Amino acid sequence: MRVLVTGGAGFIGSHVVEALAARGHEPVVFDVREDPAADVRDEEAVARALDGVDAVCHQAAMVGLGTGFADAAAYVSRNDLGTAVLLTAMAAADVRHLVLAGSMVVYGEGRYACARHGVVRPGPRAVAALDAGRFEPECPQCGRELAPGLVTEDAPVDPRNVYATTKLAQEHLAAAWARATGGTAVSLRYHNVYGPRMPRDTPYAGVASFFRSSLARGEAPRVYEDGLQRRDFVHVRDVAEANATALESLGTATPPGALTAYNTGSGTPHTVGEMAHALAAACGGPAPVVTGEYRLGDVRHITADSARLRAELGWKPEVGFTEGMREFAGASA
Ligand SMILES: NC(=O)c1ccc[n+]([C@@H]2O[C@H](COP(=O)([O-])OP(=O)(O)OC[C@H]3O[C@@H](n4cnc5c(N)ncnc54)[C@H](O)[C@@H]3O)[C@@H](O)[C@H]2O)c1
Ligand SMILES: [Zn+2]
Repeated sequence: MRVLVTGGAGFIGSHVVEALAARGHEPVVFDVREDPAADVRDEEAVARALDGVDAVCHQAAMVGLGTGFADAAAYVSRNDLGTAVLLTAMAAADVRHLVLAGSMVVYGEGRYACARHGVVRPGPRAVAALDAGRFEPECPQCGRELAPGLVTEDAPVDPRNVYATTKLAQEHLAAAWARATGGTAVSLRYHNVYGPRMPRDTPYAGVASFFRSSLARGEAPRVYEDGLQRRDFVHVRDVAEANATALESLGTATPPGALTAYNTGSGTPHTVGEMAHALAAACGGPAPVVTGEYRLGDVRHITADSARLRAELGWKPEVGFTEGMREFAGASA
């Protein structure tokens, strides 16, 4: 299968390229980082790149949380205009298979239950509570501390920043494309991806990358809140395998004319504090410091139930947390 990998020179895209090649497919990189003419917003460049292509793996995006609202137009341009141009060209070239790099950010806060009121949707955490060191979201009805659960794909979406909004719009565009063309689309909603080639020293890098950079300077990782916030850290090679598996399943395991979304996580949540300890131990560096600082808008817990991807596509993560963090701690790039 000849697969156009947009963003194929990036962190995740480069691993997708390797996974596809290892399975005997023919990945074609389309990334503005490698070639300034390879911009997904450029209709002609995309049309040329689609020549002879069987499927598209769309990783190209402007990532991260953004800084305030100043870069909203840039996010929308790269992520949503880019996706629209790509899909238009795919429709014209009759390329009917798409795998999209989705994100767990579409869910906003994770799933929570109150002992008395069952599953509830907490609002943003109050500054007064955070200042007082009360980090757990509270029940909107009775104020009790909530217990976190696993988010499933049918959970309501609640994008809370511009980046999240553009990731959700990408899915809506892909669904509209599938409906209009009879194409098949899969969105892999990645959780916290880490591993070799993870971007570092940029404001958009993930938390594992920040901790590793601190340790590389001989400094203790600084852990926000109380360190008990839960995430699902999934290794980049497992995410690449999920992409390859999804690409091979398009049109068989997943129905045409629609977009199917799959949570893509390790299935084993860990706290940010545990992650900091694992990295510090692997680096032989100073133990993490839990600072009690917080960032407004950070979600407290977000952990996926990735059972659907396992059950329907037969994917399963292979890289364990300790092993993956140990490798990441020592990775040179
Ligand atoms: N890293 C994570 O934890 C994570 C989590 C959820 C979703 N994602 C998604 O995964 C995808 C890949 O992210 P990543 O972490 O590898 O980031 P990355 O920045 O390393 O890779 C993105 C690549 O896309 C390219 N790109 C950006 N705009 C482009 C354009 N207009 N035309 C062509 N290429 C363009 C960049 O040059 C870059 O190489 C993104 O869609 C991101 O939203 C990542
Ligand atoms: Zn309650």
